[in-house]
Amino acid sequence: MLVLGIESSCDETGVALVEARGTDLPVLRAQALHSQIDMHQAYGGVVPELASRDHIRRVLPLTQRVLGEAGVGLSQLDVVAYTRGPGLAGALLVGAGVACALGAALDKPVLGVHHLEGHLLSPFLGSDPPQFPFVALLVSGGHTQLMRVEGVGRYELLGETIDDAAGEAFDKSAKLMGLGYPGGPALSQLAEQGDPRAFKLPRPLLHSGDLDFSFAGLKTAVLTQVKKLGPELEARKADLAAATQAAIVEVLVRKSLAALEHCGLDRLVVAGGVGANRALRAELKVAGAKRKLRLHYPEPDWCTDNGAMIAMAAAMRLAAGVQSASRCYAFDVKPRWPLTDLSSGLSSRT
Ligand code: KG4
Ligand code: ZN
Repeated sequence: MLVLGIESSCDETGVALVEARGTDLPVLRAQALHSQIDMHQAYGGVVPELASRDHIRRVLPLTQRVLGEAGVGLSQLDVVAYTRGPGLAGALLVGAGVACALGAALDKPVLGVHHLEGHLLSPFLGSDPPQFPFVALLVSGGHTQLMRVEGVGRYELLGETIDDAAGEAFDKSAKLMGLGYPGGPALSQLAEQGDPRAFKLPRPLLHSGDLDFSFAGLKTAVLTQVKKLGPELEARKADLAAATQAAIVEVLVRKSLAALEHCGLDRLVVAGGVGANRALRAELKVAGAKRKLRLHYPEPDWCTDNGAMIAMAAAMRLAAGVQSASRCYAFDVKPRWPLTDLSSGLSSRT
């Protein structure tokens, strides 16, 4: 079975082809990605209308490239999958519209995928796929969640951010320090030259006793430091970046460990753009070695948005029998869509 996946929820157009055979894990045949980072950089963040227009320009050439690389013709596709949400409405509509038009033209079924499920299942694209059940730390630009994952489509929300997401904390702090967009990679690169103890920044909700997060206060603390430093900021920027990163990472690590303990599990999957953060990986490695944890990350290319994770999630949902693809080509998108809406029979909170 050949599944084409189209991702267009934010500022990356991703297209990929996976092949599923019997009970084996689906394998990636080809993928192509166009990042809009250069285009949005001038504005310091994603401009939704520009994002939608660029997805329109990119999606068909990327699809042709993927099919060409895989040596597969359009008529050989079995299913066309697309990101249905959450994300920017206009951007999602491009992928959904193209996928459903392709499906209708080819008389092939289509399937709408949850973007976060794509992130969650992205480690299955790599050479060290996890086994169920596991705890997942989903850390992207828009979401920070801890989930208990029993199997494909069986997700229990353990905790989430009550305000900003971890990626947003990186991005907004970076912006306050005058670093470029997206801030996460820029801030973490600068942090490598800084001293994380140089500034005392809050660890929000660290001792809250639950598995929720809050990062809005941290951003305010960074703003206060930036104002206090004034012209000294330039000389102290690496230290402030290191301290900010350390605060975010400590909360993510401690809450992930608490979630594992709460669930009685020793397997952690870290997915989403912030999962690429080197300091987060290093801290988890130390904590994991102490507690004999198994840690799984997507390969670096699959941490941020991509089409492969959407094709993979679709193929895994089909293989698990939790969803079937449909020949109904009327589509809607879900800019807001809790991942737990996909689960049946699991409570949504501890
Ligand atoms: O998963 P993703 O590509 O898009 C969303 O679905 O949001 O995540 C993007 C987020 C951005 O906030 C970006 O700054 C952050 O991931 N990010 C990082 C790193 N690479 C990407 N944050 C910290 N360190 C990184 N190395
Ligand atoms: Zn994402």
